[in-house]
Amino acid sequence: MSRYPRLFEPLQVHGRKLINRVIMGSMHTGLEEGQHHFDHSLRNMAAFYEERARGGVGLIVTGGIAPNNAGRVAPLAAMMTTPSDAVRHREVTEAVHQHRDADGNGPMIAMQILHAGRYGYHPWNVSPSKAKAPIGWFTPSPLSGRDIERTIDDFVRAAALAEEAGYDGVEVMGSEGYLINQFLARQVNDRTDQWGGAFDNRMRLALRIVDGIRAVRTRPAPPSNLDPSAWRVGSEPQRAALPLPLPPPAPLPPLTHPTTAPDAETGDGARLSRHLPAVDARPGGAGASTPPCLAPPSRPVFYSSL
Ligand SMILES: Cc1cc2nc3c(=O)[nH]c(=O)nc-3n(C[C@H](O)[C@H](O)[C@H](O)COP(=O)(O)O)c2cc1C
Repeated sequence: MSRYPRLFEPLQVHGRKLINRVIMGSMHTGLEEGQHHFDHSLRNMAAFYEERARGGVGLIVTGGIAPNNAGRVAPLAAMMTTPSDAVRHREVTEAVHQHRDADGNGPMIAMQILHAGRYGYHPWNVSPSKAKAPIGWFTPSPLSGRDIERTIDDFVRAAALAEEAGYDGVEVMGSEGYLINQFLARQVNDRTDQWGGAFDNRMRLALRIVDGIRAVRTRPAPPSNLDPSAWRVGSEPQRAALPLPLPPPAPLPPLTHPTTAPDAETGDGARLSRHLPAVDARPGGAGASTPPCLAPPSRPVFYSSL
């Protein structure tokens, strides 16, 4: 362990404390769907992560959860789209959080939002273009500009619901050939509108999603009171009505690139938001002094949590 002398030291992240620097990366286990139970409850997923939390991990990232039907990896894959989804996920977050100490310190859990794009194994999969994935079964439908705006809203709604479910943050899957990566990659994205062509355009979806998630505010109401219409991004009355435990961070200059600079052709390397809520390593960002291995230059998501 001498190579990593700080591994078990706590890490202060955007006003919250990770108890150590051990992060369990996102891995879909098949438990996210809850299909083994008549009531589709997530008790197996909760038990799985509870065991990791008991083992003392600092941060768990769940397997990918789709923000809408088109984004599912397979027809029955897990989604976070409704208040009842948030309620079901409470079992998972509570299982992890029961290992907090009296001061509220303990393992944290973030939910990964994954839109499969053309990697979706179903006929209603979507992508920036009609280019079928070499590993795909079905030709995707190209997203219209309006569809893209809706998809951004769906990411934001999934993040808001994740917070209502008790997650400490979200991670947006931006790599490995999934939807966001498909927009980044010139080989897949042949659009001529504002979402394609120059790299800034191909980046637009990624940045709009991250900015949208950062901007959203959720009400500290019980999940049963959730009102999906409240999750529109940038709704000023909503913002005004929301008490925030933490002040919003000072404005930062716009990102010019996501985590690691992606390859301009393939978009590879843009694991955009691994540990999105955790740190911002740009000058003046919340994680600026954090070691690079733990500090991808990303943005905090929830002002009220991580
Ligand atoms: C069964 C399985 C499911 C995975 N599911 C996800 C996922 O949902 N989201 C994700 O970002 N990565 C997923 N991954 C990728 C892992 O997070 C990890 O990046 C990959 O296994 C490489 O890391 P390793 O070299 O430590 O195995 C998955 C990997 C495996 C083997």
